Amino acid sequence: MRRSVPELLAAKRDGHALSTDEIRGLIDGFVRGDVPDYQMTALAMAVFFRGMTRDETVALTLAMRDSGVVVDLSDVAGRKVDKHSTGGVGDKVSLCLAPMVAACGVPVPMVSGRGLGHTGGTLDKLEAIPGFSVNLSIARFRELVRAVGTCMIGQTRELAPADKRLYALRDVTATVESIPLIVASILSKKLAEGIDGLVLDVKVGSGAFMKTPERARELATALVEVARGAGKDCVAWITRMDRPLGRAVGNSLETIEAFDVLHGRGPADLTEVTLALGASMLVMGGVARDEDDARAKLIACVRDGSAARVARAMVAAQGGDPRAVDDPSVFAVAPVLVPLRAPSAGYITAIDTHAVGVAGVAMGAGRARAEDAIDHAVGFVFDRNVGDAVAEGDVIATVHARSVEQAAAAIARLAAAVTVGSEAPAAAPLLVERVG
Ligand code: URA
Repeated sequence: MRRSVPELLAAKRDGHALSTDEIRGLIDGFVRGDVPDYQMTALAMAVFFRGMTRDETVALTLAMRDSGVVVDLSDVAGRKVDKHSTGGVGDKVSLCLAPMVAACGVPVPMVSGRGLGHTGGTLDKLEAIPGFSVNLSIARFRELVRAVGTCMIGQTRELAPADKRLYALRDVTATVESIPLIVASILSKKLAEGIDGLVLDVKVGSGAFMKTPERARELATALVEVARGAGKDCVAWITRMDRPLGRAVGNSLETIEAFDVLHGRGPADLTEVTLALGASMLVMGGVARDEDDARAKLIACVRDGSAARVARAMVAAQGGDPRAVDDPSVFAVAPVLVPLRAPSAGYITAIDTHAVGVAGVAMGAGRARAEDAIDHAVGFVFDRNVGDAVAEGDVIATVHARSVEQAAAAIARLAAAVTVGSEAPAAAPLLVERVG
């Protein structure tokens, strides 16, 4: 006998599992308008407290994926592999990773997001490139994945609409921080891209949503198990986000830095995360024997210029100025540059990375409200990072601001976020662990 929606809500409230058909019925009803927002919100809260089994989370993910179009990339040769990051500060990896992986022969269909809270978003960084459009049709997306090897767009109305509506409810009902709901939200969108495999970058630390290795491991394990349960290859890297990744924070500055990686002159930490994720993608894509072979191929595609060629082709095909890949002067610049100087000699012992992200948002590098406009030119470039020695007065970072007043406010926030102490902190690994 079919259970009514109130009966299903009561079952979940009391900690019982729902069947695959029941979960699909709820999501289909929600999208059709038969299950109203208040019942969906009650379900989200019940899941928040009671959790979901792996089977339930797989069922929720697939029902949300099937609420819209699932892109058919079967006419694109090869195994299609994408990457997803749980978000951080200075995380511009996608912009260099996708062209590198595509240049090595693995198609990368990438549907990305905008900045969320204190973290930046790939779409906002791409839009720092003059003319670049992230709003392409699904047909054009498929065409560019086939012709160029990669294409980077935003979530369209057709892709996983149930997630878009449920996320909006969760956002205002204190139900975002639930692992099954996060997993289904992330994976429903990624599985709608028509991929064969997914490599995840689960960030951990002061600038990440997951603050502890235990929480990051819990999320990474759930993501990998549910993706595999949905029939996809999946591995996750847990990577450190207790300091900005690379030197740049802010959209134009980060895009320029990501393109530096394509020319072999990117910062070591950014290059390392890109190589680790890229190596897993090449192995998953079936074009490398193992991770060592994959790393060698990724380095070769930078040396021979093919990664930069793919990036120029992608930028041009999406309406952007392809000179941006090679020439930073194409980007808008901020008129006021002010250095943050070390208050005393010692070592940088910590950077409150969440506070750095918030300082960027306050300048307009991110949004306080969904409708806010982004100022692509503003941000920070760090000269020093955690563990580096400084003499009194050394430049730690440079603020790129619109005005002297904005720069002063940003300097005050950054100064509060950076701790200088007398002892060097213990070294921490950038790649914390691999799950899956
Ligand atoms: N990002 C998403 O896409 N969904 C979540 O629920 C959390 C982060």
